[in-house]
Amino acid sequence: MDSRLLEKYDRLVPRYTSYPTAPHFDGSVGADSYAAWLSDLPDGMPLSVYVHIPFCDTLCWFCGCHTKLVNRYEPVTAYLRLLEREIGLVRDRIGIGHAVRHMHWGGGSPTILHPNDILRLGGALAAALPMASDAEFAVEIDPRELPPAAIDALAEIGVNRASIGVQDIDETVQRAVNRVQPMAMTVAAAVGLRRAGIRAINLDLMYGLPHQTIDRVRATADFAIDLEPDRIALFGYAHVPEMKRHQRLIDAAALPDGTARLAQAEAVAERLVAAGYVPIGLDHFARPDDPLARAAAAGRLRRNFQGYTTDDSAALIGLGASAIGRLPQGYVQNAVPLHAYRDAMKAGRLATVRGRPIGAEDRLRGAVIERLMCNLRVDPARLCAEHGADPDTFAPEMAVLEDFVRDGVLDRTGGAITVREEARPLVRCVAAVFDGYLRQGETRHSRAV
Ligand SMILES: C[S@@+](CC[C@H](N)C(=O)[O-])C[C@H]1O[C@@H](n2cnc3c(N)ncnc32)[C@H](O)[C@@H]1O
Ligand code: SF4
Repeated sequence: MDSRLLEKYDRLVPRYTSYPTAPHFDGSVGADSYAAWLSDLPDGMPLSVYVHIPFCDTLCWFCGCHTKLVNRYEPVTAYLRLLEREIGLVRDRIGIGHAVRHMHWGGGSPTILHPNDILRLGGALAAALPMASDAEFAVEIDPRELPPAAIDALAEIGVNRASIGVQDIDETVQRAVNRVQPMAMTVAAAVGLRRAGIRAINLDLMYGLPHQTIDRVRATADFAIDLEPDRIALFGYAHVPEMKRHQRLIDAAALPDGTARLAQAEAVAERLVAAGYVPIGLDHFARPDDPLARAAAAGRLRRNFQGYTTDDSAALIGLGASAIGRLPQGYVQNAVPLHAYRDAMKAGRLATVRGRPIGAEDRLRGAVIERLMCNLRVDPARLCAEHGADPDTFAPEMAVLEDFVRDGVLDRTGGAITVREEARPLVRCVAAVFDGYLRQGETRHSRAV
């Protein structure tokens, strides 16, 4: 991509894992609304479940997730008892016949759980929220803490997809972010998981980290390709030290600038595409026969808090501190501080502290943004018709986008707009034009590229 375009469009924009985005959630939605929304779910509606484990035993300095460093296991045990209470609170409200189609354990590091606790949590979830026989069950894996007994426990509870954190294989980079992970460890995790029957493997890579270079990210891409994963996510390091204080431990002078970040992202993408992976949305790659690539080809790809997904359930239940859920009525988020989550559970009430009802305009704008983020293409007037809205609703946005068309970021055919392949990294900037909240408040996001 032309560096002039990068300069012009590389602004601070959301990643659009939801719309409205999380900074626009507020206290108008709390435990009572969530309880009512759960009770209103039609019996039998398929569910998706996200479980958050907010602990790690070492802290990567780049980490942008809700997690806490622990050097004892007791807080983890105590948290699991609270999670069991929350599972019970949700189960008591949701009626009958809800099969779980997608289960995702994220964090933090779910692999911090001892094998017997993996079995216990899996059992508690299966008893309260049974999974469909063809459900996808994915877990985020930190290969630095994955004893064989943990792999066996994950396989036993039905995990069938693993996302392994890799980032970069270079030791200089690893030391600069406090995440030393020899390649043999990553290989052992992938081999062990596959041997246990967990065959769908995703790898998470990053660019934009301190001391990363084109050569280093290429070497990481080649290493990843050799492991033959089904999917690869390539995240641009989001450096927001004013929000994530531990990121101040990173030497800002060693961070690549915008041009270097773009060159790194392009170098990895080139390698992955040459190896047969299909680029998906903003930051994913998948083998052409993977369900994600098929969903993308068929225009059925979805975007949620875990990124790109084939999950089309109308209700996502978020469990654990900071977890976000989405019900047909709106978004809900649990308390982030562990003590606040604990207080709610001990008092026997849901831990929802903020959220956002989804209104008709949100639904329409959200649909336009989701199609752009997933397909890089959208016909806004057609979506207006589907949503029963005035076909000219987006006339002002389409006028703004004329500039993007002149700059070669977008092609316009009839009413539809398509982000050009070489401008793929700017898709968030195009989506932001349709964001009705962006101009309303000061929110802090990461750079687009
Ligand atoms: C929440 S972590 C969970 C997985 C596990 N804890 C691990 O690190 O292996 C998921 C992934 O998010 C990505 N990530 C974390 N912090 C990030 C940041 N500040 N910017 C971009 N990606 C980030 C990393 O690739 C990481 O592997
Ligand atoms: S990247 Fe993963 S292992 Fe590292 S601190 Fe964040 S959640 Fe923990």
